[in-house]
Amino acid sequence: MPITYEHIKTCKQTGARLGRVHTPHGSFETPMFMPVGTLATVKTMSPEELEEMGAKIILSNTYHLWLRPGEDIIEEAGGLHKFMNWDGAILTDSGGFQVFSLSDLRDIVEEGVHFRNHISGEKLFLSPEKAIEIQNSLGSDIMMAFDECPPYPAAHDYMKASVERTSRWAERCLQAHRRPGDQGLFGIVQGGEYEDLRRQSANDLTSMDFSGYAVGGLSVGEPKDVMNKVLEFTTPLLPTNKPRYLMGVGSPDSLIDGAIRGIDMFDCVLPTRVARNGTCMTSNGRLVVRNAKFARDFRPLDENCSCHVCRNYSRAYIRHLVKTNETFGFRLTTYHNLYFLLELMMQVREAIREDRLGDFREEFFEQYGFNKP
Ligand code: GUN
Ligand code: ZN
Repeated sequence: MPITYEHIKTCKQTGARLGRVHTPHGSFETPMFMPVGTLATVKTMSPEELEEMGAKIILSNTYHLWLRPGEDIIEEAGGLHKFMNWDGAILTDSGGFQVFSLSDLRDIVEEGVHFRNHISGEKLFLSPEKAIEIQNSLGSDIMMAFDECPPYPAAHDYMKASVERTSRWAERCLQAHRRPGDQGLFGIVQGGEYEDLRRQSANDLTSMDFSGYAVGGLSVGEPKDVMNKVLEFTTPLLPTNKPRYLMGVGSPDSLIDGAIRGIDMFDCVLPTRVARNGTCMTSNGRLVVRNAKFARDFRPLDENCSCHVCRNYSRAYIRHLVKTNETFGFRLTTYHNLYFLLELMMQVREAIREDRLGDFREEFFEQYGFNKP
């Protein structure tokens, strides 16, 4: 098995899991956050910087790399790791979600999804077999099954038909997999906010031999308490000896609340996207560095952060760069935000080790400002 999960311990205070995931490109402790590198680059960061900040696994996207530069070119380069010079682990999303979120004029049929290229308008077709073929060419350590991620809210009838199709697609993904010896494949549990459908989806998928399981269809506009409830009834349906991945979640509160509900892996564009807009995550909440009040503020972005940026650059300098659209400014905010979430996950792991994740959550929420009305 290319992907294995080693359980280290369960937090006595919360039930969160501390573990270690082994991949062909190294292992990492969980809970872990995965920076997003959609186009074979975590925007503005070099692989050397990612390694320096402690990233062990990054996410990339089948859909985008299929369109540009094409998986054939990446395969010819020796695979995605070689192509982008990243020797850590890589997880690729299947394209299912991106087809639904980026393209219009899509037509879902049993065979797959017809849609138009979001750049050229050209007609395209993606199926479970095609999504796996592309990911086999990319050579990611963890591939994702091709699924449908319906919008929130979706009617029960629609969601039921969708879950059943996603299960049939999952089986086809397993059948199409040509590199089971060196690439893992995760199934994606769907079902929206419906407990019966999450159960049906989890039952279908756990009867198939995936190397891990994702909870999909969350963080699509539903309230936080709905996400937490769905996780509460879904993660207990998943095997304890395989990794569990909550897709598209990356706000600090949701990372902690997800870990408390038994999630091991997370990814999100949030830290990198907001960074390019001048927003920084700090232990005292969000800091909008463009703000005039930072013009003469020579303190670091976060006084409690020991990242390279916070040790060397001031709010005033970073504000100046961001206000003048200097690329370096966005590199600094991106570096800090990713470091902040990777460090947060490390604190979560330490808290699990010491059975105090509940206390950590209280303190973190208080300081970040989540407890304020
Ligand atoms: N990214 C965020 N949510 C999802 C999902 O439900 N499915 C897939 N494939 N990717 C996602
Ligand atoms: Zn910092």
